Formats: sequence, C-alpha cells, structure tokens
Amino acid sequence: MIVTIDGPAGAGKSTIAILLAKRLGFHVLDTGAMYRALTYHAQQAEVNLSDANALVDCGLECKLQIKNGALHLNGKVLGQEIRTPKVSNDIHYVADNVQIRQFLVFLQRQFVDSDNFVSEGRDQGTIVFPNAICKFFLTASVENRARRRQVQMESQGQPTVYDEVLADQLERDRRDQCRSVGRLLKALDAMAIETDDMTLEVVVEHLSQIVLTRSKQLNIS
Ligand code: DC
Repeated sequence: MIVTIDGPAGAGKSTIAILLAKRLGFHVLDTGAMYRALTYHAQQAEVNLSDANALVDCGLECKLQIKNGALHLNGKVLGQEIRTPKVSNDIHYVADNVQIRQFLVFLQRQFVDSDNFVSEGRDQGTIVFPNAICKFFLTASVENRARRRQVQMESQGQPTVYDEVLADQLERDRRDQCRSVGRLLKALDAMAIETDDMTLEVVVEHLSQIVLTRSKQLNIS
C-alpha cells in the first residue's frame, strides 16, 4: 500500500509523513532527501553543476540505499549535511535534470517494492505512484510557510530576515512549479488539505482516518 503526500516546501510534508507512517505502521520515503543527497555528492565531488552531462555522470554512479529506514549514500548514512542552505540553493540543478529524475523515480519505485509506505515529495501522486491508494496534496499560504521556515531556521541558530525567507520561498515555489518534468502538481485524484489553521496532530488524525476508511473500502488491511 502506498500513500503519497505532495506539496510545496514548508507545507509540513516531512513531519506529517513521519507521524502518519508511525500511526499506520508504514515506512516513510522522503524523496526530497534523495535529490538533496545527489546535490551534496556533486558538490563534494566539485562537479560543475550547470554542466548537465557531468551531473548525470556523477549522479548515476551514486549508490543510494535505505537501511533501517535511513538513506545511505555510497554506504554512509546521511544526516544534516544534506539540509544546509548550500545544498538547498543548488538542488534545482539536480531536480531539473530529466535523466537524474528518471533514475530517482526508478529507485523510489524499487525502495517501496512489496512494503507499505508513505512517500512524500513533489511528483509522488502524479508520476511515481499513480496507483497509490490515497493521495494527499498539502498546502499552506506562502506567508505561513515562510514563517514556519523562519522559526525552524532560528531554532537551528541561523539568523533570518522574514522578507528574505519569504522571497526565497516564492523562488522555490516558482522553480517547483515550472520544472519541465516532475513539476509540483496536484494529482487529479489527490485530496487537497489546507494546513494553515490545523495543528500537526489534527492533520495526522484527519489523514489517518481517510487512509483507514479507504483501505476498508478496498478490503486491504
Ligand atoms: O522536500 P525537500 O524540500 O527536501 O525537497 C528538496 C528539493 O528537491 C525541492 O526543492 C524539489 C526537489 N524534489 C523534487 O524535485 N521532487 C521530489 N519528489 C522531491 C523533491
């Protein structure tokens, strides 16, 4: 059984996917982490990121694995090093590269093979798992997403200016929506959930009830 969660940056997808997976007894797949891992690897290898062919060569030689629920790159577990502003700023080179996307989509399908997963990203309900039993599209206003991100950055000791975080958020949204392949899009059969006025707990409870009802309808347990 696959449940997909797509949506823009800062909509709460990662946290909600983890809590929902825990509630349902599913595994979780954070596909953004895979794009981050390849960006980090290319930076470490000092590849010219604007050279699409060099980026493909570098990306396709990477070994991405999930072991005990954690993403590993070439045998090493990944942590906060893939979540730096340096990685976030360069990730569009990797996310816009059609061959790298094909490679990651192939891996994402392989990772969830024969298990129950909540998979989150931008294209999970549209491209990667069109037959998922439940698809959600999480949104929140860009101002709220920027505010949440500002709180998160400050809690990590990074000083921020709200207007800059907002401008950055708008740029990320533009890039995610304009990508030629795998762009951020609500699948026609996805349920849109506006999280502006909902707590995490309320969203997770709401989504888990929908998944349970759906699996009963389909007679899956
Ligand atoms: O979810 P995140 O912010 O960690 O994702 C980082 C970037 O990866 C995001 O800006 C777009 C890209 N991405 C993507 O193109 N497709 C996905 N399925 C997941 C992420």
